[in-house]
Amino acid sequence: MKTRSLLQKTVTIGLSVAALTVGGTALGASDKGKVSVLNWWTSGSEAKSMNVLQQMLADKGYKMVNDAVSGGGGSNARTVLKSRIQSNNLPGAAQIKGPEIQQWCTTGLTMNIDQVAKEQNWSKILPGPVAKGMQCDDHFVAVPFNLHRINWLWINKSALEKAGASMPTDWNSLVDTLDKLKAAGITPVAGGGDTWQVATEFDAIALATGGADFYRKAFVDLDENALSGDTMTKALKRLRTIQKYEDPAGQGLSWNHDTGLVVKGKAGMQIMGDWAKGEISNADATPGDEIACIAFPGEHSGFVYNADSFEMFKSSNSDQQAQYAFARTALSPEFQRKFNMAKGSIPVREDVSLDGFDACAQQSKKDFTAAEKNDALVPSFSQDMAENGAVKGAIFDVIAKFYNNKGMSPEDAAKEMASQAKQAKMMSQM
Ligand code: GAL
Repeated sequence: MKTRSLLQKTVTIGLSVAALTVGGTALGASDKGKVSVLNWWTSGSEAKSMNVLQQMLADKGYKMVNDAVSGGGGSNARTVLKSRIQSNNLPGAAQIKGPEIQQWCTTGLTMNIDQVAKEQNWSKILPGPVAKGMQCDDHFVAVPFNLHRINWLWINKSALEKAGASMPTDWNSLVDTLDKLKAAGITPVAGGGDTWQVATEFDAIALATGGADFYRKAFVDLDENALSGDTMTKALKRLRTIQKYEDPAGQGLSWNHDTGLVVKGKAGMQIMGDWAKGEISNADATPGDEIACIAFPGEHSGFVYNADSFEMFKSSNSDQQAQYAFARTALSPEFQRKFNMAKGSIPVREDVSLDGFDACAQQSKKDFTAAEKNDALVPSFSQDMAENGAVKGAIFDVIAKFYNNKGMSPEDAAKEMASQAKQAKMMSQM
């Protein structure tokens, strides 16, 4: 077989992934211009959340074309973005997070939205690290939507009752609870096993096991000792333990399907960011009531954060005024409340009230503020907030290898994580 060019390959991937594209129609007509928005929000609650924006823009006379590409964590959406660039069909806004925002600026294709940032005083209304993350060379190029917390455990209370188990408070009591659920014939942990989901679980485990300083050293500084040392090994051992409580027949299922299993009591719990809460509410269960939310338990507490954001592009198929309206509306207090209630996150604007939000959102806000004060706030490595795509990819590869090969020791996985991350960092700086 002849080797195909990178361009051919990318376009082929792009086309097959484009088949997954859903949505694409905006509500109501509009004459003030349109903005095409590439994102990966396709679960029930995610789509509902995006509809809030589409409707608000339609009410103002703008058309939002919702280019949603399925696939939790966005790997398919990223591929589509690359292929759209190659075919000169850039979206007006694309879901991009963390250091990748700055990487995209180097293409010269991103759009400056300082004028909206100034008008709404983003530097004042956003948490410091979030405002900084939206900029390249001191210019705003991206707009944040929310704050998600990653290190949550979602627990079905009646499943626990049925199993005669109690709410876990530390690692040992968690394992005890999982044993009881198993003995009662309930799948203890709902986990679909794809790399993004496993990395999300590991994210929560790593913080609870090692704490914020360890987490930062390992995943932000890529410190070799932290990545390969005893604490990382301990966290990987715990991941292996969690894996034993997942249903082997449930592998390959999506995160929102897994949340559904917890809501129905078919599984006891799920380790997942609070977009799971969007699905819980969407299924008419009450987060904090039938489904408890607790920070993933361990020796340490803290807050692993993820701010969903959209980077703006100088786009051939979007109108600048509609792009400004998109950014402005996303940070309006009204949208911040409606969207985040549906999405499971909390408003990223610090001046927006949480009145009427559920108990888990209140807890999230409280823990975020405490973590900010105690230096226990860390950017999520599994949700692209800590490192560029190449480094994240290298860490994901090792986690996948470890998860899929039960013969691999936690010690070897930790060592491999250190060497792969270092190599990926070096390569991405060349
Ligand atoms: C994350 C994103 C969340 C959530 C999740 C599952 O990357 O930040 O908002 O939607 O993917 O699709």
